[in-house]
Amino acid sequence: MKVLVLGSGGREHALAWKLAQAERVSQVFVAPGNGGTARDPLLTNVPLTDVRALADFAIEQKVSLTVVGPEGLLAAGVVDEFRARGLRIFGPTKAAAQLESSKAFAKDFMKRHGIPTAAYEVFSDVAAAHAYIDAQGAPIVIKADGLAAGKGVVVAMTIAEAHEAIDWILADNGSGVVHNEGGARVVIEQFLAGEEASFIVLCDGKHVVPLATSQDHKRLLDHDEGPNTGGMGAYSPAPVVTPNVHAKVMHEIILPTIAGMARDGVPFTGFLYAGLMIDAQGEPRTVEFNTRMGDPETQPIMMRLKSDLLELLLHATDGTLDGVELQWDRRVALGVVMAAGGYPQQPRSGDAISGLPADSEAAMVFHAGTTEVDGQLLTAGGRVLCVTALGESVRKAQQLAYDSLVNIQFEGKQYRHDIGHRAVKR
Ligand code: AMP
Ligand code: GLY
Repeated sequence: MKVLVLGSGGREHALAWKLAQAERVSQVFVAPGNGGTARDPLLTNVPLTDVRALADFAIEQKVSLTVVGPEGLLAAGVVDEFRARGLRIFGPTKAAAQLESSKAFAKDFMKRHGIPTAAYEVFSDVAAAHAYIDAQGAPIVIKADGLAAGKGVVVAMTIAEAHEAIDWILADNGSGVVHNEGGARVVIEQFLAGEEASFIVLCDGKHVVPLATSQDHKRLLDHDEGPNTGGMGAYSPAPVVTPNVHAKVMHEIILPTIAGMARDGVPFTGFLYAGLMIDAQGEPRTVEFNTRMGDPETQPIMMRLKSDLLELLLHATDGTLDGVELQWDRRVALGVVMAAGGYPQQPRSGDAISGLPADSEAAMVFHAGTTEVDGQLLTAGGRVLCVTALGESVRKAQQLAYDSLVNIQFEGKQYRHDIGHRAVKR
């Protein structure tokens, strides 16, 4: 079978790498892919990003299954288009993808279906938003309603920061958020304390199979300082998700979400990613939904997945996920993101990359913002590489990941030195 992976990040490199190992896969296309997928002899890059052109390509090439990486394509209706043309694709429809593409949709959905999340109000009026902040006090969290590539959220520790965020998002849109229909809106919500975890499941519209748990590191700098990013590293499993927390998440968040979406007439198919905040009592709340795999969570998760990913996705698109059980490597996987200088505000690009280690069973370099020009690998985006390793413990996985990246060079490279720190302390 030929398969097609849509996207160009580290997530897509890891999905394509794993699909290429599946028994029944004859060819893996990645559209548009990156320098790493270009170099891998088992993968073929396709220089397409337009939804219709992608569907034409899938028909021409007799692609059996398409998997969607990024949220932008989902919000653009890629799943609706492929399905309308009789193509098998794994991901949510445009309507179901609103769980991620509209924070207001997601919050209203959670309220209606009793899914634990932070208390909130939605505003489009600037003066009303400012007044609400004065009434609530700080800390408080301000979120743009539309897709913002991780940049539309301000966790304001002071009232002044909260007012500034309202102006930045709502009044003058300095944030550059893609607003949804009806114009600029913000969600203002209660600050939640606790530890975050990423809980990702596969859904076929009715049934759910949870993937291994993971934890991301959103801040740019060591000790969780600096600005928020798309994610500077991740590891799996996340020890904060104990068996007890896992059961609560399934029964209070995941299953009611899938049932609620079906009841609302927008059945959810695809990867559903609940970003959790778990408080000191072990109570999980939903910080956000993503309607896709996480990046960089996918990289460590795919390194631990022993089951055949193609068979799994065929079940997911046939509606037969019930009874499917996944096999996991019991080792820990940990990935360190190497980002371009200037990331996240203004990443440099076009710098030569050298010193990549050879990939092995226990250590892989997944590419994201890279491109190959005349055989030379160059940086081409904010997050450049994710160096991912397996180990018997968090410490061992961490050691191998950091040992593997010591010789990697490019101008301005930045990475965190403490990926996995919460799990090491436990
Ligand atoms: P989001 O894009 O909704 O995931 O938010 C980005 C990051 O902001 C999250 O990963 C959290 O670290 C933080 N955050 C979002 N909402 C809250 C909240 N209600 N309380 C505390 N932190 C939050
Ligand atoms: N790593 C966070 C995300 O994929 O949204």
